[in-house]
Amino acid sequence: MTPLPLRVATLAGDGIGPEVTHAAVAVLRTVCDRYDVPLELEALPYGATWYLATGEGFPSGEPKRLARSFDAILAGALGDPRVRDHAHVRLIRHALLTELDLYANLRPAEQLLPALSPLARVQAGQARVQLMVISENLEGFHPDRDRRVRVTDDEDAHVTEEWHTPHLVARLLRFAFAWAQSRGRRRVTLVDKTNLVPAHRLWRHAFQTVASDYPDIAHDVRLVDTVAHDLVRAPERLDVLVTTNLFGEILSDLTAGLVGGLGIAPSANLHPGRCSLFEPVHGSAPDLVGTGRANPLAAIRTVSLLLDTCGHREAAAMVDAAVMASLQAHVTTPDLGGRATTGAVTEYVVRHVRTRPLVRDGE
Ligand code: NAI
Ligand code: MG
Repeated sequence: MTPLPLRVATLAGDGIGPEVTHAAVAVLRTVCDRYDVPLELEALPYGATWYLATGEGFPSGEPKRLARSFDAILAGALGDPRVRDHAHVRLIRHALLTELDLYANLRPAEQLLPALSPLARVQAGQARVQLMVISENLEGFHPDRDRRVRVTDDEDAHVTEEWHTPHLVARLLRFAFAWAQSRGRRRVTLVDKTNLVPAHRLWRHAFQTVASDYPDIAHDVRLVDTVAHDLVRAPERLDVLVTTNLFGEILSDLTAGLVGGLGIAPSANLHPGRCSLFEPVHGSAPDLVGTGRANPLAAIRTVSLLLDTCGHREAAAMVDAAVMASLQAHVTTPDLGGRATTGAVTEYVVRHVRTRPLVRDGE
């Protein structure tokens, strides 16, 4: 049986985005070829250069076209010193998330090699890190909800509001429990700051209601500061963390740091059943452009997350195995202590995917 075609738009973006997306696409083409998955690719030109030339993020109607024509968007990163106010990031990334209603942000932090963790207990095999941070992607602190309020004759306060809407919070919490159940995960922890932010109470309320529908999954509620502490002290006690946009952004850099850093951290922006957006957690790293030091593994692992989400689990497992092989062979970029270039790591992974025996589910 021929698998369904996989339709992917790439949005390489700025900085090292094109370099790591090039690597990711090479792996995606190879693995789809091996598993006979018909792959339809289109490269989108949007980013800082497009914005500076046209004054817009993308042509009007573009999100609708993408939603119709693609299963997934594979993004690099957006952020360019030429656009100081990040206007194009709002016009491209935030607009896509909003218009495609990609409400769930997923950031896995799985221990690949114990040696990549800075924690001695992990390295010694006394603790194992397997974490997933799921955060609300469409509200919370939002760059558009920002204003100045006159407080004295000559001074404005700068106010950024935090928004939480009950049905959107409940939708995310249901997603988190359903995801945990589908992946056999044991515990879902709500991370908030109810003692300082009264609006977070509605998360707790909804959490208890949703949790009661999942009696097989343990659940608890924790303040974000103690979770940050425990992530370093005892990460093995935590499993799936569900939280707000801002806390998710912060904690997922911490969880990435626990297992090897931004150079290997993937992420997904999802709405089940719709065209979703996949991207490495890292940004455009202007300091690394053109140096060959950008680690392509975050983008390559993002391909694995994309394949897995789109129903190609064997192909995803093949990519994971190839990433693991490159780490075990110490074919890594300097952020992981190696001396390989972006291109050399990519070649190693591609060769592994091209030449390994195929594994099919059930074998
Ligand atoms: P960054 O993630 O670009 O860089 C942070 C640090 O990690 C730097 O030292 C960088 O060299 C290193 N790093 C990042 N990616 C790496 C990789 N693949 N391999 C090896 N090392 C890597 O974050 P930063 O510096 O805060 O932001 C730079 C630009 O990226 C800004 O314009 C920011 O707004 C944007 N950004 C965009 C994101 C997105 O498009 N999703 C996410 C985060 C930042
Ligand atoms: Mg970030």
